[in-house]
Amino acid sequence: MTIDPVATKTEPRRVQLRVESVIEETSDSLTLVFSHLGPDGPTAFTYRPGQFVTLEIPHPQHISVARCYSLSSSPGIDDLPAISVKRTPYGHASNWLCDNAVVGLTMSALHPAGTFVPARWDRPLVLLAAGSGITPIMSILKAALVSHDQQVVLIYANRSPKSVMFADTLNDLVQRYPTRLTVSHWFESERGLPTFAGLRDAVPVDPGSDAYLCGPAGFMELAVDVLVAAGVERDAVHREVFTSIHTNPFLDASLQEPAETAANVGTPVSAEVEGTSYSFRCPPDTVLLDAMLQHGIDAPFVCREGTCGACAFTLAAGEVEMRGNDTLDDYELGKGMRLACQSVPVSASIEITID
Ligand SMILES: Cc1cc2nc3c(=O)[nH]c(=O)nc-3n(C[C@H](O)[C@H](O)[C@H](O)COP(=O)(O)OP(=O)(O)OC[C@H]3O[C@@H](n4cnc5c(N)ncnc54)[C@H](O)[C@@H]3O)c2cc1C
Ligand code: FES
Repeated sequence: MTIDPVATKTEPRRVQLRVESVIEETSDSLTLVFSHLGPDGPTAFTYRPGQFVTLEIPHPQHISVARCYSLSSSPGIDDLPAISVKRTPYGHASNWLCDNAVVGLTMSALHPAGTFVPARWDRPLVLLAAGSGITPIMSILKAALVSHDQQVVLIYANRSPKSVMFADTLNDLVQRYPTRLTVSHWFESERGLPTFAGLRDAVPVDPGSDAYLCGPAGFMELAVDVLVAAGVERDAVHREVFTSIHTNPFLDASLQEPAETAANVGTPVSAEVEGTSYSFRCPPDTVLLDAMLQHGIDAPFVCREGTCGACAFTLAAGEVEMRGNDTLDDYELGKGMRLACQSVPVSASIEITID
């Protein structure tokens, strides 16, 4: 469909979540199980293993802040969606959630987003998590074991046995899938920080595996080195970066509204957004996300600062320049993935796809 800039859509996709239960995971982390409230009451919630939601958290000075939390539940396996939050020392949102989340609390959230989602399930999986980085890994792990049939290795680093989130669930899964799941714990209290030799020797890794990593930057860099040395293709290694976003999509939408420009000015863009085709022009010096929203296209986004990956698209033809990128790795860039909130077209025309 060719569209004119008649409708301006800068609102992100909001949902209302109600806390249905609060589960203590460790002394400094908990799981919040939600129901999704539609206009007529609780309704289905659609997401993919490894995705995250963005929550609006009250703040005394700024009204609210936005924070992303990976879904630790697995779609089609867990009845309700859940996130798991670990207190960050002196952090605002994580401590607010741990101190204030009670059954019945209703929260504004953005629709699930993110690209840390397995694209295929026909290879062995090796999962490496540290601390709260286990949350998207849990979602992927459960999906792999329950809905697919490959081997799964999990290497999980923590300060001590007391810091292990989902300890009971992991034990249950090892009992249920003794021939398919291997879990190897690394405790800093016993062995210090993870080392190359220690991770390499933790569990034999099938070189044909797909790998998913989540934890602090240093841990993930080490894990990539270990996996590549074990023969895993660099292209098959995927990472999720946890960080606090600085923008607030719940409050800032009107401030970020793009200026309207003439329909025939700018770079021609052909976009396939979740199955619907659009043709429009991206005005000069304008990022693609702003151009799509300006043209009324319901494109996904959360942070608009290159941090969360919610706006990722695949560049099928043409070239863009990104102003920043804190989330896509070299593999994803090599596959043509770019961030719509950071990309300005630099070729005569471009073609993009958002799944
Ligand atoms: C895709 C994604 C998924 C995520 N999933 C999870 C998850 O499943 N579970 C989870 O627990 N977290 C997750 N996170 C991280 C989460 O979004 C938050 O970043 C985390 O909870 C910390 O937020 P906070 O508000 O508590 O800390 P913040 O208030 O943002 O503080 C972060 C750090 O900065 C320091 N700090 C804050 N303000 C200042 C200042 N003015 N000067 C100096 N230092 C300062 C704080 O002391 C703290 O150490 C995820 C992040 C992303 C992007
Ligand atoms: S919206 Fe977060 S990276 Fe673009």
